[in-house]
Amino acid sequence: MAAKIPTVPLLTPYKLGKFDLSHRVVLAPLTRQRSYGNVPQPHAILYYAQRTSKGGLLIAEATGVSDTAQGYPDTPGIWTREQIEAWKPIVDAVHAKGGIFFCQIWHVGRVSNQGFQPNGQAPISSTDKPFTPQIRSTGIDVAQFTPPRRLRTDEIPRIVNDFRLAARNAIAAGFDGVEIHGAHGYLIDQFMKDHVNDRTDQYGGSLENRCRFALEIVDAVANEIGAERVGIRLSPFADYMESGDSNPKALGLYMAESLNKYEILYCHMVEPRMNGVLEKPNTSDSLLPMRKAFKGCFLVAGGYDREEGNNAIIENRTDLVAYGRPFLANPDLPRRFELDVPLNKYNRETFYTSDPVVGYTDYPFLEDSA
Ligand SMILES: Cc1cc2nc3c(=O)[nH]c(=O)nc-3n(C[C@H](O)[C@H](O)[C@H](O)COP(=O)(O)O)c2cc1C
Repeated sequence: MAAKIPTVPLLTPYKLGKFDLSHRVVLAPLTRQRSYGNVPQPHAILYYAQRTSKGGLLIAEATGVSDTAQGYPDTPGIWTREQIEAWKPIVDAVHAKGGIFFCQIWHVGRVSNQGFQPNGQAPISSTDKPFTPQIRSTGIDVAQFTPPRRLRTDEIPRIVNDFRLAARNAIAAGFDGVEIHGAHGYLIDQFMKDHVNDRTDQYGGSLENRCRFALEIVDAVANEIGAERVGIRLSPFADYMESGDSNPKALGLYMAESLNKYEILYCHMVEPRMNGVLEKPNTSDSLLPMRKAFKGCFLVAGGYDREEGNNAIIENRTDLVAYGRPFLANPDLPRRFELDVPLNKYNRETFYTSDPVVGYTDYPFLEDSA
């Protein structure tokens, strides 16, 4: 008699609004810097298709909402006709394999320099506080930042509108929905976190004021494409890009509770142990209060392996688990979790290199390595 295969919690189905997920292993958004000139390239068709499984949820890499949104070479955008058209075959390939595909919409704010900005202007932010040169996560180049220009109060609706238009464009490209990038020290986080935001208008000061920009974007995007197609990513505990907060738990809870009002599809939070893409030492902080406060689908990310993901599902600490580096290096991650076999190791050195194959689509599938 064949042995009964035990159920793997990560591989149980989940109803995500109108989407029927066949499992809970989500592709986390991963910037790969291979979209030359900010236009998605044909090699991304294979990359995303490789990571698609029937009924699996994929979140595309951070994608700029406007010509002021960029801060890294060769990251994709979704504000021009050409970019929308370039996304279409990529989205089609994911759909052809039965995947559900969300686009992460992004504005870097002050994590930029004049070279990325139209007419060489200063990057925009919640603040004009400059930001220290940093070693990129590649560890190779030192990124230089131009001191930002503080957005005037009357300019803010235009930026909110850029997110709205980007969401509309994402749907036009065929995406099933969007994830608003409110994490990792980029523009939305620059408004939310009190180590950065030093405004005195209705977008600064109190928690309510600092979260106003994020929630206006949620509202605008939900009105444009429907709340059932909207997720948001937040990292209240991270201080990546000099964007820490003096009370991250209160911030995370305020956002989780406020988001309920908009009835968006999911809230995606990054574990306190992650500081951007680097691990922090052990911390006693937890996402549990936010999980309990948010009424929709909860999605976690940051340092999960198979066992920890399974435990988080069993203990109802989350509904879905997003995997970044493991999925980057294992295109067939859900299948490997199903069979409980070893994973390919990721190579950090090729995370952000621009080769269309190496470190991108050449990680072996299980069959290839057998
Ligand atoms: C190469 C790389 C690119 C990333 N790009 C993004 C991104 O575009 N948007 C985002 O929200 N997070 C980004 N992250 C963070 C991941 O989505 C994820 O939260 C992080 O890698 C922790 O999860 P992991 O331990 O499963 O890798 C990136 C991480 C890596 C390693």
